[in-house]
Amino acid sequence: MLDRTEAVREPEPGQNPPPELKRELVLSNVGVHFNGGPRPALDGTNLTLSARSTLALVGASGSGKSTLADLAGGLLSPDSGTIEVDGIPLSGGVQRAWRAKVAYVQQEPLLFHGSVRENLARANPSADEKRIRCALVDASAAFVDQLPQGIDTVIGDGGRRLSGGEQQRIALARTLLRDPSLLILDEATSALDSASEASIVEAIRALQGKLTILIIAHRGALVALADRVVELADGRIVSETAIK
Ligand SMILES: Nc1ncnc2c1ncn2[C@@H]1O[C@H](COP(=O)(O)OP(=O)(O)OP(=O)(O)O)[C@@H](O)[C@H]1O
Ligand SMILES: [Mg+2]
Repeated sequence: MLDRTEAVREPEPGQNPPPELKRELVLSNVGVHFNGGPRPALDGTNLTLSARSTLALVGASGSGKSTLADLAGGLLSPDSGTIEVDGIPLSGGVQRAWRAKVAYVQQEPLLFHGSVRENLARANPSADEKRIRCALVDASAAFVDQLPQGIDTVIGDGGRRLSGGEQQRIALARTLLRDPSLLILDEATSALDSASEASIVEAIRALQGKLTILIIAHRGALVALADRVVELADGRIVSETAIK
């Protein structure tokens, strides 16, 4: 088992500075076939994400949306094809370095027992008060000031003393403290009521144009923010619609 895990050890980021995503992220002919899967999760997919644009990925359950997001975020390597950020192939140490520039907000954010401040500090221990305040405002999470001890309020195991929408916004603030180039939201609002969804949508709208955003959602207000909507079916892109 040790040999097997050693064999798949990721190279260190080394001296590679992470790519910044100043121009575009390009997935060329990428294929992913998970072990035991009856068919490829992604099958020769081509997609270009322009820097500072907002792209929405839609499609039925199992169509490959999260797989594509994992590739773009450097969490997964394709079995075939290439991924490049500003012309730099995402492989080896670069892939690992790139991950530090990616903010990934998933359906169930992982918060820790501790205060809001402690949760935020995990992303960037050196962030000063001003930086933290900016991240909270950018994430529409200024509600923190109304908690009993403000930013020092303990939020319970997994943040359970907060609503789902509040947890999402703390998770978003935390991720913004890492100064990401790419923000990925995977079904980030699917479990939220419409008021909580609206506050996330407002936060994302304010971030548009400042960084590159990849939204995965089945429908709704988040998809409506996108410049371009790409639909996947059975691991292939079946339609692309430019909105703006
Ligand atoms: N780790 C894995 N191991 C094996 N198969 C996987 C794995 N992850 C995804 N798959 C398979 O790959 C295909 C695409 O999955 P993916 O998670 O990308 O779909 P999705 O479009 O995000 O769906 P959903 O809307 O339900 O989140 C599915 O058939 C899924 O079962
Ligand atoms: Mg998914």
